[in-house]
Amino acid sequence: MVKEKIKQQSISPLTGKEYVIPDAVDDKEGIDSFVAQHPEKKVVVVQGLGFVGSVMALVVANALTEEYAVIGIDLPTPFSYWKIQSINEGVFPVIADDPKIELFYKEARRKNNLYATCDPYAYSKADIIIVDINLDVKKQSNDDGHLEDYSVDLAPFKKAITSIGTYCKPDVLVLVETTVPPGTSQKIVRPILEECLQKRGLSADQLKTGHSYERVMPGPKYIDSIQNFYRVFSGTDEASADATEKFLRTVISTNEYPLTKLGNTQATEMAKVLENSYRAMNIAFMVEWSRFAEEAGVNIYEVVNAIRMRPTHKNLMLPGLGVGGYCLTKDPLLASWAKMNLFGSEEPLTQSEKGVHINDQMPLFAFQYLQSQYEGSLKDKKVLLLGVSYLNDVGDTRFTPVQGLFERLVEAGSEVTLHDPHIAYWEEKELRVNNNLTELLQQPYDIVIISTGHKEYRNSPALIKTLLGHPASFVYDTIGVLTNEEIKELKTKHIVKVIGRGDL
Ligand SMILES: NC(=O)c1ccc[n+]([C@@H]2O[C@H](COP(=O)([O-])OP(=O)(O)OC[C@H]3O[C@@H](n4cnc5c(N)ncnc54)[C@H](O)[C@@H]3O)[C@@H](O)[C@H]2O)c1
Repeated sequence: MVKEKIKQQSISPLTGKEYVIPDAVDDKEGIDSFVAQHPEKKVVVVQGLGFVGSVMALVVANALTEEYAVIGIDLPTPFSYWKIQSINEGVFPVIADDPKIELFYKEARRKNNLYATCDPYAYSKADIIIVDINLDVKKQSNDDGHLEDYSVDLAPFKKAITSIGTYCKPDVLVLVETTVPPGTSQKIVRPILEECLQKRGLSADQLKTGHSYERVMPGPKYIDSIQNFYRVFSGTDEASADATEKFLRTVISTNEYPLTKLGNTQATEMAKVLENSYRAMNIAFMVEWSRFAEEAGVNIYEVVNAIRMRPTHKNLMLPGLGVGGYCLTKDPLLASWAKMNLFGSEEPLTQSEKGVHINDQMPLFAFQYLQSQYEGSLKDKKVLLLGVSYLNDVGDTRFTPVQGLFERLVEAGSEVTLHDPHIAYWEEKELRVNNNLTELLQQPYDIVIISTGHKEYRNSPALIKTLLGHPASFVYDTIGVLTNEEIKELKTKHIVKVIGRGDL
């Protein structure tokens, strides 16, 4: 594999197209011209064009009861500059199995009411600003993936809010949708904005600051998970809560999915991190049980599905390679950090922190099992990794558990080939990824690992047939996509192992 280090360029992980990042950002003309074309419309600026912000911008551009002129803003960095260019060039920066994304994007382009920029001058035009940026947790882990310490890096978030305060109108509604430590809107966002306005000689009396978290689910119902789903909201005061509610009613189907108002922004911020901590802990809980199932010769999938017949136990999770993505890997830590740092507690949220720790170690367990099958040595083994993304049918590599497995395989001297139908360039590893499965399967491998549940690997007779044509190898399903029938067929030629299936 050829490693490609690119500095002053931003490469689209979707198309592989390279963009040169300009030295200075001045898009005043472009922004003024866009706004001038929509004199009757309110301007909504979405800060952050990532997996949430870009799709939220699409939803606002296709609002239900009011027409907005929408400007998406992001940073001119190698990770993000391509998203801005891509939106303006006609390629939406998120690929998912939801046909509504393409439809909404086409409609926004037809109406010409979506524009992207990296110039913060855009904030000066906004009636509403939606904050959809990242707020990262920095983890320090040892070689075993054991979480030793972590910190919440608030500096970039504060900088982003400051850039809004430097330009915004004094009566703007700033709606925070970023997942934040409870206490952030009241103790950090509001004071920064007030201070910025004060420095500009402006009153903050009309300023409105709301919080309403995203429950967006990348995948086949991406748009609906924003537009046709329940939302929780609050404001730092009554006027802010009212303005937030009024805006949400124009973009979300609130007749079918009524809004839930909570008493203050601390409550909505806590609701978000509690929701995600619950899910992360549910998975961590299953890690232990799936290992027990392997030791006891039990099929954990069968067991979980039997238990799920009880309505109260329907959301019991299944085992897998690990927990990935941006949210579940950090949100329990954001909550624990807030408890100690924003509310002065000396006790962390012990169980939530431990859940993250267990989940982070899952790729190590998966690797160790594989290693045990080869008497400790995976050197020179030809390995095909099917799936780089952390989630099925989506191109998102952030904190993918595949990374932990991949790095350990490379370290062990294996020759790893990557496939993912949705990823052309793996940003975090600076590696190109082959999208052509047919081409890759022309050669045999010692080990084939199914590491993501993309539909290309699920119920795929073609894949099974091709693998059956290969010399004997080790087929390792780390997420339970293979059916009993497929396992039976594959076992006529190969060794097959599925995580959590002690019955094989
Ligand atoms: N991805 C999900 O499924 C999901 C679901 C619910 C909530 N969330 C939350 O939504 C937030 C955004 O998540 P995401 O997945 O879109 O993250 P992301 O990393 O994909 O996108 C964040 C974007 O914000 C940009 N950004 C950072 N600082 C900026 C600034 N000062 N000005 C303009 N742009 C800036 C980044 O460059 C990046 O493009 C996070 O708080 C996340 O926890 C995510």
